Order: sequence, then structure tokens, then C-alpha cells
Amino acid sequence: MIILGIESSCDETAAAVLEDGRRLRASVVASQVDIHHRYGGVVPELASRKHVENILPVVLEAQAQAGLKPADIDALAVTQGPGLVGSLLVGFSFAKGYAYALGIPWVGVNHLEGHIHSAFLDPAPPDFPFVALLVSGGHTALYHVTSFTSAELMGQTRDDAAGEAYDKVAKVMGLGYPGGAVIDRLAREGDPERVPFKRPFLDKNGVDFSFSGIKSAVHRFVQSHSDELPELVPHIAAGFQEAVVDVLTHKLVAAAQAQGCERIALVGGVAANRRLRERVRADGTANGMAVCIPPLEFCGDNAAMIAAVGYHYLAQGLRGGLGDDVYSRNP
Ligand code: KG4
Ligand code: ZN
Repeated sequence: MIILGIESSCDETAAAVLEDGRRLRASVVASQVDIHHRYGGVVPELASRKHVENILPVVLEAQAQAGLKPADIDALAVTQGPGLVGSLLVGFSFAKGYAYALGIPWVGVNHLEGHIHSAFLDPAPPDFPFVALLVSGGHTALYHVTSFTSAELMGQTRDDAAGEAYDKVAKVMGLGYPGGAVIDRLAREGDPERVPFKRPFLDKNGVDFSFSGIKSAVHRFVQSHSDELPELVPHIAAGFQEAVVDVLTHKLVAAAQAQGCERIALVGGVAANRRLRERVRADGTANGMAVCIPPLEFCGDNAAMIAAVGYHYLAQGLRGGLGDDVYSRNP
């Protein structure tokens, strides 16, 4: 079964071709970072307009890379939510129209389930059950995943997502948007002990998280050390990153232990973080766990993960209808 996946929930327009749920034949991601960079964050109206421009070229590029004609596609999977409504509508409406024109089935996919499914695109996918830490710009949550289509929420952030904290901290240090990759890079040149930050919720509140406090702590530190800032930036980045990575790693391992589960996975945009990948691999292994961290291309938003989810729902007979709508928040 050849599935065309489409993703447009935020500021990436993406299309992918997945065969039989596992074999990736093409994955195209058109990023809008250059457009939103100067505004310090995603501007929803600009994002929607850019998706409209990008969607057809991106889909055609994915089909070309896979060496396919439209008639070769068996079904379509598209992100339905959560995300920016204007952005979601572009991919979702395109998918409805394309599926209708080709006379093929389609299904709407939850973006967060998509991130979890990025683990199944890894060359060594996890067995069931496993505990997944999903860390992105909009979400930070732990799931107990028991099958391809069932995941139970174990805990989540009570305020900011980890990626959001990275982006905001980068902004107060004047490092631009998005901030995750920049902080990741700068932190390598800094000493994490030089400007240490408290580990929020480390040994309390179960497997819930909080990142707004550390974000404010960095802000206050930056304001009170403006004179020495250029010299301190790598150390602040390292101190902030070490605190966040410590909490994320600790809670992921603790959540798996609480479930009596010996398999963990790290997914989402922040899973691209070098230090986090290193720590999760090391701590998971030290605790006797099998660790799955998908390749970088599947961490950030992409359509391969959406097609991967769609494959299972389509196989179960689930179908989208022309009356279906997108949703901005996770139901
Ligand atoms: O999953 P994603 O592409 O989009 C959402 O669904 O949110 O995640 C984007 C987030 C942004 O906050 C970005 O700063 C963060 O992932 N990110 C990183 C790194 N690369 C991207 N955070 C930390 N370290 C990185 N290397
Ligand atoms: Zn995402």
C-alpha cells in the first residue's frame, strides 16, 4: 500500500511517500524559517500563505522523488491537528481535494501521534510496550505506548513546552528564532557549572514538567548581567540546557520504571538536541533499557511520520469524510 503523507500544522510544508507502513520512498520538507526568523516566532497568517504556495510543489516533488504518478497512490494521510488552524487547513483541504480527485481513501492524523510514530521509522523500531517522551515546540509529554494506535498520556508540562523554553531563552539572549539548535550549538562551548539553574520539578510532581520558571530565571539573569553578556552567553546556554536535559532524561527513565517498562523512545523537534540524545541513550542503557532515538530527519516536523500513522488507521478501516474539520488543540 502506497500512502502519500501531508503535514502543514505549523511552519513546515511536508509531503512523503511511504510504502507498506515502513519503506520510505520520499520525504520532502519545505521550511519557512527564513520568513518567520525576523519576527522572532511563527506569524500564523504568513505561515498559511506560504503553505498555499508550497503545498503543490512539495507534493509533486515527493511524487517525483518516489518515481510515482498520482494514479500509483493508494491512500492519503494528512495532519488534522493540533496546530495553527490556518496552516492545518491548507494541507487538510488539499488532501481532501486530491483524494477526491483520485478517488482514493484518506484519513486525518493527530500530529502528536505522528511524532510518536517517528520511532517506527527508525532502522531499529521499539517493541511494545514502550514509554515515549515527546518534546517539541508545542508539547512536552510522556506516553505509555502499547500498540500502533494506542498511547496513554502519563504526564505532561503544566506550562511551557521544552522547545518553547529553548526558543524564548534564545530570544532573550538575542540569538534569533528558532532557538533550539543555536542553544544546542553554543552550549558545547560553555561550562554548565558556571551559570547553573535549578532543575524544575526534578523530584516532585510525578512525571509532569514545568519550564516557565527556568525560562524566567534565565531572563532575570540576562537582565542583571547585561555588561558581561557576550562572554557569558555560551555558559548560560550550557547551564540552561543541562538543567532541562537533566529533568527530561530523569523523568523519562522514572516514567518507564514506574510502568515496569524496559523500552524508551525520544521523539519530537527537541529530540534533535545533541546533549539530550546523549543523556537519554546513556541513562536509559545504564538502567537496562532499550533506547530508540530516531534519525534527525524524523525529529522535526515531517510527513513520513504522518503517513506512518495513517497506514495503521487506514488498515483498521478508518476514513476521513469531506465534512471533517481541523482542530487547533489536542482533543
Ligand atoms: O516538532 P517540531 O519541529 O515542531 C512542533 O511540533 O513544535 O519542534 C520544534 C521545536 C522548536 O522549539 C525548536 O527550537 C526545537 O524543536 N529544536 C531544538 C533543537 N532543534 C529543534 N531544541 C533543542 N535542541 C535542538 N537541537
Ligand atoms: Zn511537531
